Amino acid sequence: MTATSMRTGRCGSLRANNVDDEVTLCGWIHKRRDLGGLVFFDLRDREGIVQVSFGPDWCDADVLTVAAGLGSENVIQVSGKVLARPADAKNPDMATGEVEVQAYSLEILSRATELPIPVWRSKAEEPSSEELRLANRPLDLRREELQRNIALRHRLLQRARRSLTEQEFFEIETPVLTKPTPEGARDYIVPSRVHKGQFYALPQSPQIYKQVLMISGFDRYFQIARCFRDEDLRADRQPEFTQIDLEASFVNQEDVMAFVEKTMVDLWDEVGANVVAPFGRLTYAEAMERFGCDKPDLRYGFEIEDLSGLVGGKGFKAFDDAIERGERVRGIRVQGGAALSRKHIDQLADAAKGEGAGGLATLKYLDGNLTGPLSKLDGITAETAGLEDGDLMLVAAGTDRITSPALNAVRLALIEKLSPEASSNHAFSWIVDFPLFEEQDDGEFVFSHHPFTAPNPEDSEKLVSGELGDITAQHYDLVYNGVELGSGSIRIIDPEMQIQILERLGIGAEDAESRFGFLLRALRAGAPPHGGFAVGFDRVVMLLIGATSLRDVIAFPKTTAARALFEDAPTGVSDKDLAGLGIGVKT
Ligand code: AMO
Repeated sequence: MTATSMRTGRCGSLRANNVDDEVTLCGWIHKRRDLGGLVFFDLRDREGIVQVSFGPDWCDADVLTVAAGLGSENVIQVSGKVLARPADAKNPDMATGEVEVQAYSLEILSRATELPIPVWRSKAEEPSSEELRLANRPLDLRREELQRNIALRHRLLQRARRSLTEQEFFEIETPVLTKPTPEGARDYIVPSRVHKGQFYALPQSPQIYKQVLMISGFDRYFQIARCFRDEDLRADRQPEFTQIDLEASFVNQEDVMAFVEKTMVDLWDEVGANVVAPFGRLTYAEAMERFGCDKPDLRYGFEIEDLSGLVGGKGFKAFDDAIERGERVRGIRVQGGAALSRKHIDQLADAAKGEGAGGLATLKYLDGNLTGPLSKLDGITAETAGLEDGDLMLVAAGTDRITSPALNAVRLALIEKLSPEASSNHAFSWIVDFPLFEEQDDGEFVFSHHPFTAPNPEDSEKLVSGELGDITAQHYDLVYNGVELGSGSIRIIDPEMQIQILERLGIGAEDAESRFGFLLRALRAGAPPHGGFAVGFDRVVMLLIGATSLRDVIAFPKTTAARALFEDAPTGVSDKDLAGLGIGVKT
């Protein structure tokens, strides 16, 4: 590293080839040990830790006394000489473990007087609760794990920029104070002081702007875009998050997918993982049929099958009634599942019921005996059921709207319980041909993703005829190990079709002009065929690190209650400020 006026280099960078160097280092005391008149510091900076020693043979008594009185997290500057550690003192677990710095001078740069949570803790100590860690984020971020995560995040950001720049994309920033961009969540709104009673919305995504940029001729755009969505939060959702957002002109779906694949291959390469493009493809219909969800974890089997033919008409009334109603009986054959305990099977049934299924019928084949409620079906045998000794069959009946999520929940619970061997570490897949609209329980149609997605050309007619549920979209999601990494689509460029689609969604022409007029006007100015994609960047970092929460890869994340604990936001605003905005708060 380039030295500064205060240090010659970083603590964590010293290696055997630095032996005999005179160094000046700055950092935090990670841990202090006193050993018969000698004082040892583990001195820490962002690169890591190096051992610094103070002893009567090489430093003045007053330096030794100051060193002996300093505890963890004080910020110091030391000067000394790099020595090779004796063979029996080398620490192979530390990157700097072959050396130590014999320090002869020590300056305290800043004292740590308030340490609500420890940065260094022994292996036996419990980590602080997440709430305490988030409330004390400056200290929490000093932990090695978070330092590593944030450093990798930086590298991945730079790699994404490089990859897309190499693919001829321009990085262009779009506004944060804007109009609502519908992505299916609520908006965060910002009151205007100048225009009282009017509000900006923070963008749920740069969707409309990136389309306008295509219409303006920029051809290929990307942005590391901050998005804001007021929605129910989970471990993989934050109210503000980052997308690698891109859009390109004169492309079809395959072209966009190829851009995204190249970017993913590069990002995975950044952590040394070799993934091969093109990725596999599944239609939405096939994903729902075989896995019961649109983001299947393809590392594992336990596929869902239609068992209506196998179990129908064999004297099991619930099934026969379901089939009579036009519903289906679907299930999963679980190799080796007969070993699952009653309790585990009850848990699987609870998972299915949690998604609305009436229950889960079982058929078990063990030691040559078929047992479970389904063994009473007329004429059922292990052979007709396709079961090997030790297998289990789990079956649910109902509409696909119920059995798909229910059997998906059962499948995920099975994977967790049985920990089967993964067929690969990196199961990327495209999900294509999504429905354009989603029918809600009340029969209303809403857009599946956002209202700018173009229908598949062969389904466009259905827009006119009103068969809305049957229209597939030129929309594609990227799924990785059971997580939705991103989504995108080819966009509507015909303003009339855009208005028609908005109308189908209950947004009349006047409303459409007021909400999306700037896009509609731009579309009327000559729009190139275009499409794009957005990758959930925080999710990428989380998965590449093996973290289970986005909070571990975002420097200042929010809680699941959308609170910023360290900075303490949101907070109230003074009456004066509210009056200035023309706003009153009802309590
Ligand atoms: P979409 O809404 O699917 O598409 O978002 C793209 C990806 O962003 C990530 N993501 C989130 N990550 C963390 N917290 C959240 N609250 C959150 N919400 C979404 C996911 C998701 O797959 N404009 C379109 C893209 C396009 O059509 O080009 C869009 O935003 O990984």
